Amino acid sequence: MHRAPVAPREGRRRLDRRPPHEVVGRENELAAVESFLDGVVNGPSTGLIIGGEPGLGKTTIWEAGAASARQRSFTVLTARPAEPESRLSYAALADLMGGLSADLVATLPAPQSRALQVALLRAEPGDQPPDRRAVGTAVLGAVLALAKLSPVLIAVDDLQWLDPASMHALQFALRRIGTAPIGLLAAIRTDMTEPLGENFASAMPGAATLALTPLSLGALRHLLASRMGASFSHSILVRLRQASGGNPLFALEIGQSLQRDGGAVQAGDPLPLSKSLRDLLYMRLGKLSALAQRILLAASAVSQPTVALLAEIEAKSAVEDALREAVAARVVEVERDRIRFTHPLLASVVYMSFTESDRRVMHGRLARVVRDAEERARHLAVAAAEIDEETAAACEDGARSAASRGAPYSAAQLALSAIQLTPALDEDATLRRSLEAARYLYQAGDTQNARALLRTRVASLGPGPARASALYQLAVVEGELGPARESVRIFEQALAEADRESAVSIRIAIDLAWMLLWGGDAIAGAERARQALDSARALGQVDETEQALFAMTYLNCMCGQPARDDIMRRAVELAPSMTQVPLDRSPMALYGLQLMRWGRLEPARSLLEQVHSIATERGDETSLSAASFYLAQLECIAGRWPAATAHVERGLELAALTGVNSQEIRFVDAMLRAHFGRVDEALMLAQEGLVIARDAMEPLAASRFLATIGFLHLSTGHNSAAGTALGEAWDVSWSIGIRDPGAYRFAPDLVEACVATRSIASTGSTINAEEATSWLEERARVLDHPWAAAAGARCRGLLRAVAADPEGAAVLLGDAIDRYTTLGMPFDAGRTALSLGQLLRRQKRKRAARENLQMALGVFEGLGAVVWADRARSELSRIGGRASTPYDLTPSERQVAHLVASGHRNREVAEALYMTVNTVETNLSRIYRKLGVRSRSELAATLKT
Ligand SMILES: Nc1ncnc2c1ncn2[C@@H]1O[C@H](COP(=O)(O)OP(=O)(O)OP(=O)(O)O)[C@@H](O)[C@H]1O
Ligand SMILES: [Mg+2]
Repeated sequence: MHRAPVAPREGRRRLDRRPPHEVVGRENELAAVESFLDGVVNGPSTGLIIGGEPGLGKTTIWEAGAASARQRSFTVLTARPAEPESRLSYAALADLMGGLSADLVATLPAPQSRALQVALLRAEPGDQPPDRRAVGTAVLGAVLALAKLSPVLIAVDDLQWLDPASMHALQFALRRIGTAPIGLLAAIRTDMTEPLGENFASAMPGAATLALTPLSLGALRHLLASRMGASFSHSILVRLRQASGGNPLFALEIGQSLQRDGGAVQAGDPLPLSKSLRDLLYMRLGKLSALAQRILLAASAVSQPTVALLAEIEAKSAVEDALREAVAARVVEVERDRIRFTHPLLASVVYMSFTESDRRVMHGRLARVVRDAEERARHLAVAAAEIDEETAAACEDGARSAASRGAPYSAAQLALSAIQLTPALDEDATLRRSLEAARYLYQAGDTQNARALLRTRVASLGPGPARASALYQLAVVEGELGPARESVRIFEQALAEADRESAVSIRIAIDLAWMLLWGGDAIAGAERARQALDSARALGQVDETEQALFAMTYLNCMCGQPARDDIMRRAVELAPSMTQVPLDRSPMALYGLQLMRWGRLEPARSLLEQVHSIATERGDETSLSAASFYLAQLECIAGRWPAATAHVERGLELAALTGVNSQEIRFVDAMLRAHFGRVDEALMLAQEGLVIARDAMEPLAASRFLATIGFLHLSTGHNSAAGTALGEAWDVSWSIGIRDPGAYRFAPDLVEACVATRSIASTGSTINAEEATSWLEERARVLDHPWAAAAGARCRGLLRAVAADPEGAAVLLGDAIDRYTTLGMPFDAGRTALSLGQLLRRQKRKRAARENLQMALGVFEGLGAVVWADRARSELSRIGGRASTPYDLTPSERQVAHLVASGHRNREVAEALYMTVNTVETNLSRIYRKLGVRSRSELAATLKT
């Protein structure tokens, strides 16, 4: 089997490959590892985590597993983080991925390979730091590519010391490997309360744990014999096992000391070495000279100890002597320049054996010699005993450097140290560092802590521009966490306190404009954007001018102004330079949505698909979930329901992974199920969504769910419930200032529900069918709005059909069908054909009726819209004229009949329908004759059936 993409590991044989000792005992554990490896090849294994106290033999099993995987032709990627490395971003990832060939890295999409190179310090960060998700996506891409060639084992020893940046990237990748033959074999110290390691283990879906138990007496005997050539009496062995707790490392140490003492101990005497492991290790260290110990302290405190580095803090000859001593004592191994502790515990013991002040001094010296800004800052932070601006500044730089490599978590830690070291009087620096720390926390996904930090800062400041910038960030964070209105409130406060006519105040105003739209005041949003545009122009701020112009144009269009395709297209072209704007709110995405509302599906799809593929390349799952939502909606409208379903499924997965956009996905999920006629499921989802939207006071979302509920009721013939929900959906959208007719996709459903319940002139809401229709028609004309033109014709046709103008109605409905067909909206075309077919059938124009109903049926069957297909079928079966139905009445007779049946007196009916009472009576007697009924109550009963 080939392992072409990986540079041969043998070529760079590392210090960490101790010559393997024979493994004694552990038959069950080794078998578990083998079956785990089987599972990686054949499914469904994803991870095996070997746990146990220090020295219990985790690494031994882990190494045996890795060796077996190599024999099975796995590609084995290993990392053995050591304790100090837990402080350097992407140290472990560099070990794992260091051997990847440049060819393989080059096959990754550009943003990913760049992110990986930057993270691994192979490339400069440039202006735009890679998103940390991009690093995770790159790791995922790389291992998936490797897994195409042979199974992959990601082998990580001492998982508890994995640096957070590597951990995030690995976790990200491992949660997404699906069924590819990729497994994680890790060892972790379970007595350590390092939360990261624990989180890791618990976050690995389907990972099994293998908890090591003490070695048996037989195994210990075997171990001591094979490793030391010593054989102890049974009684000593028993005591040795007791003293060591069956821990092989303890047992070996104790055994060696016993051997030194002559191998015998009096019964009843305590074992000379029944001490803690730390004491044992101290003993080994204690023999080293003071110089060697000090040099080892330096080695234990840096992430990558090398001979060259140590030679910068002590004389080279002293370093060489010290290392010779340490190698002889089996404390470290040296290969070429690199130094490695033979046991990671030794490094911690060395480090802990010095006093805190000794360690501080050492960190201070190391800070002067390490090259990496991030690591330098860490040394300085530990070395600093007290508040110190210089160190704080170094931490600030280190934080930026970590952030520029896409390691926001480490950046945040350093920035927090910087705050602590900042002199109290320096308010500017404190604020700046706090804002940076909050930003890094936010980028690292720790929104809660970002919010807490910002709230503290806001509370400590008086009103003014300084507090404005803290409020601004807080508003952004709140926008993610809480109801939009709270965020709007804070944005407004920030704007009030910011320097007027400054770039910051313009940016606040632009973000506020968007937040106002989500929070339910599109008009105020558009107005804010306009003000921002004026200020940006006055100040000559180029980037802000473009952003404000785009926001204003989009919001204006939402509020009913014409679409400015010229401006939107320009914004799309300029978008790559608007680096601050998140992808899912980028001009590309929003212009795509606007085109969709206007019924221009082709160009909309092409933009939204671009958003989707850029998000995929970047591994930006937040934007990807938004893009799935957009495209699911689009494909639902376009009648590509399988594609829509796929987007919904992907969206659901992403929403679960990222915790964002779940309401949006729930909406398309409900909508799509509703279209497929899975009524109960859809209704449940929509009602759930509505409750959440109302709680969060999010009118846009509420309106969407109401529209879905209305459509479902209409599908099942609950017309009056449909009218109520749709009327409310209309009112909610209307009340927040939305005037783009395309945002009222449910308008024809509303009109249809009103027509069916004969409540054309009044609904529970402020809108009625006649007004809604006139508005659509008028907007279609004024705005040249293709969707509104189709919907307007359909609605007017539905109204004419019941207003004694069947001829006019048929023409309008036919026109609507043509328009929908041109727009590529088959479901709407089918629905209109169904309405037209019903109308023609009632007029006894059987052939034309049949043609239209068959077209509708064909469309619904083709799409899988089962409920609507049933309705088309039942209409078709009625052609041929069996029992009289209410539909054999003329439209005005029907209106009269329904009003009478619903309990209205003749005079009320006359008023409602602009007839004389006389006409009502004539109509009523014709109705009685046609339907064969003799009273108002009989009429009501007949109409109900
Ligand atoms: N089953 C075994 N057979 C032979 N030697 C063993 C066995 N288990 C452990 N040892 C030896 O005991 C010592 C400690 O084992 P190992 O390094 O695997 O422990 P560990 O659990 O990884 O410890 P740590 O928590 O410190 O990483 C090593 O010298 C190792 O060779
Ligand atoms: Mg180990």
